[in-house]
Amino acid sequence: MSRAAKWSLTIVILLAVVVAGIALFAHEPEIPTASIDPKQFPEEQVRRGQEVASASMCVVCHTAPGGAVNAGGFHMETPFGVIVSTNITPDTESGIGAWSFEAFERAMRRGVARDGTHLYPAFPYTSFTKMSDEDMRSLYAYMMSQPPVRNEPQATRLPFPFNQRALMAGWNLLFLDRDPVAKVASESEAWNRGQYLAVALGHCSACHTPRNALGAEKTGKDYLGGGEAEGWIAPALNGSSKAPIPWTEQALFDYLRAGYSDQHGAAGASMTPVVRVGTSQIAESDTRALATYIASQMAGAGQGKTGPTPPQREAAAQAAVATTDTLGARIYANACAACHHPGPGGPDLFGAQPPLWLATSLNLDQPDNVIRYVLNGTQHDAGNPRGGHMPGYAYALNDAQVTAVVQFMRESFTGQPAWTDVQDAVRRIRGEYPLALQGRGE
Ligand code: HEC
Ligand code: HEC
Ligand code: HEC
Repeated sequence: MSRAAKWSLTIVILLAVVVAGIALFAHEPEIPTASIDPKQFPEEQVRRGQEVASASMCVVCHTAPGGAVNAGGFHMETPFGVIVSTNITPDTESGIGAWSFEAFERAMRRGVARDGTHLYPAFPYTSFTKMSDEDMRSLYAYMMSQPPVRNEPQATRLPFPFNQRALMAGWNLLFLDRDPVAKVASESEAWNRGQYLAVALGHCSACHTPRNALGAEKTGKDYLGGGEAEGWIAPALNGSSKAPIPWTEQALFDYLRAGYSDQHGAAGASMTPVVRVGTSQIAESDTRALATYIASQMAGAGQGKTGPTPPQREAAAQAAVATTDTLGARIYANACAACHHPGPGGPDLFGAQPPLWLATSLNLDQPDNVIRYVLNGTQHDAGNPRGGHMPGYAYALNDAQVTAVVQFMRESFTGQPAWTDVQDAVRRIRGEYPLALQGRGE
């Protein structure tokens, strides 16, 4: 073990001991089971609750691949181990069917389950704690009115010390900010609505903000400064955005509503379900409000940068593809240009022709997202007719070939310095896949 690793382990253990002390004094009582009649909730309240659930994207985390909606069993990779989501259908045995509103609200606002055990903040109660009382009651009415599904997902087992759930009482003392979202009087109604949707419901910062060593979101200038989700980089949505063309309110609206912006490309990876079940399903005025708020956070990014326009970028890409004669350029021409064809007259295959010369992923400091796109492809779109599918190249291309095509795109489609150590990153990312999907490697 390196010195640095020993130090961080010592610090984590010390912190754990301190926090355990605090936790001993922070015992949470069990809340008795209740019998809930879903017919008690007015239809209008249930309908509003459905909108809150969409904006908060509960189904994304609480539905296992191929499993019943909200019946749990989705595996979340975190730096502390795999955390399995629970069944939040109103089944009385395996779900939350016997939870009173009081128990539900405590879980949502303070991260404590009905039986008094602490929940991990992989469940974004850190955002939901800021939900308005009215939205919380509507959400409860909606959840309790859904069909109950009997399903007992596998239990979460993190390694010591993280398996000591009581430690989360200390974590909450340190990091849980329960203040409601503060209205900003100088901003418009739409901006304030967008702020509330982004912070309290949509938990955009859960993925788009970097976290500290104990897994809490950083604040201040790091807010929306770029984070991580399932191994993918969730790009910065603040002034440090690397998007080659600055995002506008309209472009954000297109991307969040339809999963695609002409100026930026498609929503991929874990942003796809955010659009599919969240931002495309809420009221259109709410998607606009989100766009207004996020655009204001991004103000300043790329400003004063009089970079090439989208047509100029496309023309440069076209020239590079036509004239470069490297391994990477040849792979691009043969394997990729059919869909990513720069210049006029390119095919509109499968309804999409994603403009890589406008993609943020190629402009980030690390090549991870681009490598993941090339190895995995994308098999799902955000539900929009212009989205499309991309085959994965894990089998067709070996590490050196993936490296070559990634370097070619970086050099030819962006004004950014070349990435170093791409081949190491390709090897590392391939190694993370299950054996059957690792492909060719060397
Ligand atoms: C980012 C992923 C994520 C989202 C989004 C999410 N949850 Fe969860 N939720 C989890 C995980 C993971 C757990 C289990 C945490 C644990 O075991 O400590 C959980 C636990 C819960 C629990 C505690 C259940 C129990 O049996 O202990 C409730 C209640 C809950 N979520 C409700 C919701 C609702 C309602 C929404 C939408 C408004 C929602 N969650 C959105 C990940 C998520
Ligand atoms: C579960 C994690 C997750 C959540 C939650 C999430 N995002 Fe994302 N987001 C991502 C990832 C990963 C990408 C990169 C996608 C890609 O490369 O195709 C992304 C990309 C984006 C982009 C494109 C940025 C660029 O420069 O290309 C925008 C805009 C965006 N998200 C907005 C939002 C908003 C607004 C919310 C909240 C409503 C949100 N995201 C919630 C993971 C997330
Ligand atoms: C069959 C058509 C097709 C082929 C062939 C194809 N792609 Fe794609 N590619 C797509 C589509 C569609 C998307 C957008 C998908 C999404 O994000 O939902 C995409 C997205 C991407 C992205 C992400 C862009 C962004 O917005 O961040 C990269 C990088 C990429 N492709 C590179 C390649 C490379 C390199 C090759 C060749 C080795 C290739 N593609 C071959 C269809 C294709």
